[in-house]
Amino acid sequence: MSPLAEAAVSKVQVLVLGGGPGGYVAAIRAGQLGLDTVLVEADRLGGTCLIRGCIPSKALIHAAGEFEVLRRAQGDNPLGLKVTGEVAVDFAQTLRWKDGIVDRLSDGVGGLLRRAKVRVVRGWGNFRDARTCEVTGPDGAIQVIEAEHVILATGSEPVALPAIPFGGDVLSSTEALALPAVPETLAVIGAGYIGLELGMAFAALGAKVTIVEALSRILPQYDPALSAPITRALERAGIEAHLDARATGFADGRLSVERAQGPALQIPADKLLVTVGRRPRTEGWGLERMAVDLDGPFIKVDDRCATSMRNVWAIGDLVGEPMLAHKASAQGETVAEIIAGRRRRFDPVAIPAVCFTTPEVVSVGAWPEPGPEVITAVFPLAANGRALSQEGGDDGGFVRVAARADDHRILAFAAVGRHVSELSGEMTALLEMGAVLEDAAGLIHAHPTQSETLGEAALRALGHAIHV
Ligand code: NAI
Repeated sequence: MSPLAEAAVSKVQVLVLGGGPGGYVAAIRAGQLGLDTVLVEADRLGGTCLIRGCIPSKALIHAAGEFEVLRRAQGDNPLGLKVTGEVAVDFAQTLRWKDGIVDRLSDGVGGLLRRAKVRVVRGWGNFRDARTCEVTGPDGAIQVIEAEHVILATGSEPVALPAIPFGGDVLSSTEALALPAVPETLAVIGAGYIGLELGMAFAALGAKVTIVEALSRILPQYDPALSAPITRALERAGIEAHLDARATGFADGRLSVERAQGPALQIPADKLLVTVGRRPRTEGWGLERMAVDLDGPFIKVDDRCATSMRNVWAIGDLVGEPMLAHKASAQGETVAEIIAGRRRRFDPVAIPAVCFTTPEVVSVGAWPEPGPEVITAVFPLAANGRALSQEGGDDGGFVRVAARADDHRILAFAAVGRHVSELSGEMTALLEMGAVLEDAAGLIHAHPTQSETLGEAALRALGHAIHV
């Protein structure tokens, strides 16, 4: 590190480290509230979610889905669609389209920050102490910023397997989203969110995909009822999933896999995608000089996102599960308001989680253990007109609700099916507002929409569903 004398020291009220959905939202809100705010970011604005995560992956998943429609139209299909010629993907154009969306959103974030009068400092931040940050710009120039408040929002990074490090044909989600061509064969380690979302998308685009999962079922963070329709969808898509299986090495285009039962496997793979989780990015920017307590791998915070060091705050993937963009943004907004003197807490009833496989999975609130104190009900998408008319009724999809037996207070919703991610808003609103089953059942839902299934599930829990 250079001595302080080398660079001019500027003083600000708020310094935000990291320009992802946690950091940029915190900075915009701080700016809106009149705080003199600097956002330090070495990369483009938008963070993992916007640049190399949620947004580009959703674009790729959409393109894959559209291509699948074309391919299905080459053969017999219930809709009577017909494509008589060849269908093909110009993958370079697909990537340009995806990158265009990312560029537009990233530029948009820059515009929003300017409007909120936030100063963006391009460069790598490194803390000398809890409130002094040295930023090295792309040209090597150093500036030192002293802040009254620091908001840490450095996010997370993919976990590597020691025996199969990233590089060459071994990809993290970042490289998978920028592949120049659809690989002929793709092996995926880890059947969690990213592995399944991208594995299914590449299969739809024509790759032969094989998934290797260490545990005994896919999407182990969800219960078996929710993952079962996804298991069937993998089979329909021709994706082989090896469960209770551990990848031990990758060489010469072959993945070595040991299985709890059965002989070891050698899986041919042009590319290998490793998606075995993410970990908070706590190294490389001086955290060790900030006297901030950790909680396992995460930064320890209270319900105001305050760390153990006064006026140092931390948000998003850095502070624990769930590692989701919308949680980070909500925390960012909360912290900015607290710094501006408002009384706020980060204490949500429920944070929605969506897995964008085909079909999708959505879950809001913790699903309770069965027992006399809870009532639950399931409503099948096969009984919903909108789902059927969008080909979403025949893959075992459903919506379910759980509530307290005594006062009918809703505890959780979950759903699996095509397009069910759009139900997450109403589910979250009902939970956050403390709704009871009668509230959900009494709402007038537009017909024909899938949201009717929420009312029907609540009615079923009350013992008198109409359409089932
Ligand atoms: P994940 O935690 O969802 O799944 C990792 C999977 O890898 C688990 O099923 C685990 O059992 C398996 N695994 C671990 N080590 C293994 C090994 N050696 N061999 C075989 N399998 C192994 O992690 P993923 O998919 O990398 O995603 C990371 C995080 O990113 C998620 O937890 C989520 O918070 C976030 N994310 C959210 C998305 C969304 O909201 N739609 C989409 C993508 C990611």
